[in-house]
Amino acid sequence: MTDNAEKYVAAIDQGTTSSRCIVFNQDGAVVAVDQREHRQIFPKPGWVEHDATEIWARVQAVVAGALANAGLRADHLSALGISNQRETTVLWDRATGKPVHNAIVWQDTRTTSLCNQLGGGDGQDRFRDQTGLPLASYFSGPKAAWLLDNVPGLRDRAERGEIAFGTIDSWLIWNLTGGTDGGQHVTDVTNASRTMLMNLETLQWDPAILSAMNVPEAVLPEIKSSAEVYGTAVGQLAGVPVASALGDQQAALFGQACYDVGTAKNTYGTGSFLLLNTGDRPVPSKSGLLTTIGYKIGTEAPVYCLEGSIAITGALVQWFRDQLGIIRTSDEIETLAESVDDNGGAYIVPAFSGLFAPYWRSDARGVITGLTRYVTKGHLARAVLEATSWQTREVVDAMFQDSGVQITTLKVDGGMTKNNLLMQHQADVLDVPVIRPKVSETTCLGAAYAAGLATGVWNDLGELKAHWQEDVEWTPGMNPSVRDREYHNWRKAVEKSFGWME
Ligand code: G3P
Repeated sequence: MTDNAEKYVAAIDQGTTSSRCIVFNQDGAVVAVDQREHRQIFPKPGWVEHDATEIWARVQAVVAGALANAGLRADHLSALGISNQRETTVLWDRATGKPVHNAIVWQDTRTTSLCNQLGGGDGQDRFRDQTGLPLASYFSGPKAAWLLDNVPGLRDRAERGEIAFGTIDSWLIWNLTGGTDGGQHVTDVTNASRTMLMNLETLQWDPAILSAMNVPEAVLPEIKSSAEVYGTAVGQLAGVPVASALGDQQAALFGQACYDVGTAKNTYGTGSFLLLNTGDRPVPSKSGLLTTIGYKIGTEAPVYCLEGSIAITGALVQWFRDQLGIIRTSDEIETLAESVDDNGGAYIVPAFSGLFAPYWRSDARGVITGLTRYVTKGHLARAVLEATSWQTREVVDAMFQDSGVQITTLKVDGGMTKNNLLMQHQADVLDVPVIRPKVSETTCLGAAYAAGLATGVWNDLGELKAHWQEDVEWTPGMNPSVRDREYHNWRKAVEKSFGWME
């Protein structure tokens, strides 16, 4: 049984493949965890959906599981924070609380032609000045527009105010705070900054973009800061203040204590997302990065980031395991990759959802290059892992071009960081040390930190920063000529991935 004199904060991380709940103590240490997966629904090539009702059920189950594992009750919690897969879009009926369609997941490419139409003569950057984003199927606004146009009768109901739009944070907060019985319909600035509907300067929905995208304002949640009490939970968490929401990548930035300008982190999950803190002004990108909100604590000014979004990294290992059946568990990839000395000349570009940063090519599809009869499954396992580090190298190069900031170390977190071979290769190809913190659950930790700041569990960022401790550091050691040759080969492979979906 846990010592209940302490203060505890719980965080929900609703991710692309699973939901987890972690309870933290006041030192920012993990007290208990629970995690459950949900179904991935692939109705057509390039389409990816989730059942938002199933997600809500999984979230409730992991909250119960984490509390039970901690030996705590809801009244032991000072606050609840939320981090979530971003851009995934849910529309639900305000009266029944039921989603009107499966959620369209961030990886889904069905809005590619809609995005092309929206670009018109201005092209992909039509809304970049206002939103920091290129027109791409990744973002939620076009996904909402697609649903409004394709679910019979939905647009009329939306215009009558009967339908609510939300990214997963909104969906969870609405349900946690009462659902049809008074649930709060809100989102935070980090999640709103991924819709392509929010203006980065005003932090409000942009009327001109709403009209261009034909999304009625009546469906939208109110935009709040990332750390404030949005409402009080009902049900099993009755009485707990719901006090933070951050997109999962921004939550990881916050949990990694990247509070100073020029600090950066990379999270290796389904995809990988490298965020660089650029301070109190948005830095426009000319090199294929996104300008996004890092966090906003209560009434303080927002902190902006440059982001390099990579759609597929960990998901490539899952594909190798589930679709090809070459390994039985994700961990086996490291042993298989270690069975050979190098990639044997093979490169895999996992453009399953097109390529995100720095290319933003929806027409790209996955390729394997360099195959000869010499290549074994061990070489392919290496190529799978190396795809993650090369994609990261490309976004680090773009960061330098946009910001002039040359990162000197890279803080990392996420499931793939337990793979030593990958992390060593990452340090080698970036030629900087790669550092993993002791608490590698940085996504939940960031959401917990923000919720704790909003409720007085912690006082300021300095206190949070003092919790951060290094666990492992990987030092670069690759011969520069090998690095240059391999990078050149990787870029040739990337070019082969273009142009498959004109
Ligand atoms: O933008 C998509 C990102 O938020 C997904 O994160 O960790 O669920 O793969 P993850």
